[in-house]
Amino acid sequence: MRKTVIAGNWKMHKLLNSAGQFIDDIKSSVPSAMKTETIVCAPYLFLPLLVEKAKGTDIRIAAQNMHFEEKGAFTGEVSPGMLADIGVSHCVIGHSERREMFGETDDSVNKKTHAAFAHNILPIICVGESLEQRESGVMESHIRQQVENALSGLSDEQISKTIIAYEPIWAIGTGKTATDEEANDVCKHIRKTIAELSNQEIADQVIIQYGGSVKPDNIGDLLAKSDIDGALVGGASLEADSFVKLLEEGT
Ligand code: G3H
Repeated sequence: MRKTVIAGNWKMHKLLNSAGQFIDDIKSSVPSAMKTETIVCAPYLFLPLLVEKAKGTDIRIAAQNMHFEEKGAFTGEVSPGMLADIGVSHCVIGHSERREMFGETDDSVNKKTHAAFAHNILPIICVGESLEQRESGVMESHIRQQVENALSGLSDEQISKTIIAYEPIWAIGTGKTATDEEANDVCKHIRKTIAELSNQEIADQVIIQYGGSVKPDNIGDLLAKSDIDGALVGGASLEADSFVKLLEEGT
């Protein structure tokens, strides 16, 4: 039986005060991590404060990106060791915005995934197709390739702990959600790909989230599907009220 994992990805939003206040506001409404894991993916600057505020709660704090190198002359970058050192538990890797705007590739995604595990940080690896890829019939092969490349060289145990977020690019921030069936079909395809890479037992343990215009009023139907185990939420995760509703509807 897989857990539900609901992650709010703030992207480049909020200031320090409102970020800290958010954790205070949701703290008492967070479900038990035994059943549902609650993750807040925040900009680097807020992470130490949020980790501190989330201590003793079932809220986990994630970064939205990291470098794959341990240290060195990489101006402006943050290493996995730095994140682990302050108590960050997860990291989003390969979000489509980073692939599109910041040169993230399948190769860097794979390197970052290995680096994350080396520091006991759990990766949330994003995959997904553009509208053009969906309409031209290459969606399945594209996603298969993204998943295979991201997980290349990982042990079965590491694969089982990886979170995959399926985010169709055309559904991100657009108000267009994939139908529950469409989203579930791709999540199934991802699980099948993982089973072929490792085995069915491992694939059955992997948490696969859906992301793309998830809201309190559609999360329940999405999570009721066989292969959707959680959600990676952008816009609707920014306000504490809305995030708490997502947790309630998704639990
Ligand atoms: O990381 C989150 C996703 O990109 C979804 O964003 O919920 O605003 O569509 P959205």
